Amino acid sequence: MASLTRTLPASWYRSSPLYQLERRAVFIKAWYLLGPVTRFMRVGEKVEYEIAQVKVTACRMSGKPRDIKVFDENTGMDFKSYITETGLLFSTISDDAPSFDEFFPNLKPLIGTVDFTRLPYRRSIKYEGNFNWKTMVDGYQECLHCQYTHPSFSVYYPPTFYTVYNHENFSQHVADPKKADDGLFLYFFPNCTLNVYGGGMSSFRVCPTEKPGVTRMEFDYYHIETGDKFEEYFKFVRQVAMEDYELCEKAQENLERGVYAEGILNPVKESGVAHYQQRVLDLVCKQRETEVRFDAGDARESGSDSSEMIVAPQLVDPASS
Ligand SMILES: [Fe+2]
Repeated sequence: MASLTRTLPASWYRSSPLYQLERRAVFIKAWYLLGPVTRFMRVGEKVEYEIAQVKVTACRMSGKPRDIKVFDENTGMDFKSYITETGLLFSTISDDAPSFDEFFPNLKPLIGTVDFTRLPYRRSIKYEGNFNWKTMVDGYQECLHCQYTHPSFSVYYPPTFYTVYNHENFSQHVADPKKADDGLFLYFFPNCTLNVYGGGMSSFRVCPTEKPGVTRMEFDYYHIETGDKFEEYFKFVRQVAMEDYELCEKAQENLERGVYAEGILNPVKESGVAHYQQRVLDLVCKQRETEVRFDAGDARESGSDSSEMIVAPQLVDPASS
């Protein structure tokens, strides 16, 4: 029997040095969905982001549809950014990221089928929660919890047909293959999502803070309607978001207690979790290897004992060994 996929260790959800390693290995080298171009309609209006402690500003420079600049306000330097054919703006947070096509091979055919600019921007909200960024992404990447956590959502999007298709740096969730323009959920590794359901569209970012147990959630909402019809949609999707929020805080409490070390993932129903966790694991291990080798080289050059130079976080939960 093939071995079952295990989760990341619980210690990875509560360690500051591990988060700093994730930051260097994953976040600094990634691309981020800032939103559809309809988020940036007013010329000169600055839309500000903070991703993994890097401040990013996006600003429409003129009335031309694709004239949006993404830059570091302190230095004035541009970040690499990319607007897709169907109007999604992505950005990096450092020059260490590869090209858009290298980071997201195979994304264009998928997002080329949906017009993401048909729904106007309506509202943004953000708030902090007491959970690690991966606790929220774990929940997003599976729908096993949907039936009991989201009773109102499950009525419209029953988990019967729910399917996740994983690609290198994104996952596509389809609630019902017969309704391609609704019930479409996209996860962009590591921490952005785009959700077309309930008649509207939302995009959220799961922003890690320097505290591994605290994450800032940022949501942007898009809908054709204003007034009561928008409020009805907003109430529905906020209900789902708050149900996830409560679930994450409870899950994090368990991760913090030190009783649970790691678990086994359902190969069918949790393939999205397994996929993104494997990406994190691979990138973190590769980064650590590079840094240890680099530190050892430095130590050799200076003639000191390399074992004293290497200060790396523990990658294995002591409780599991
Ligand atoms: Fe959920």
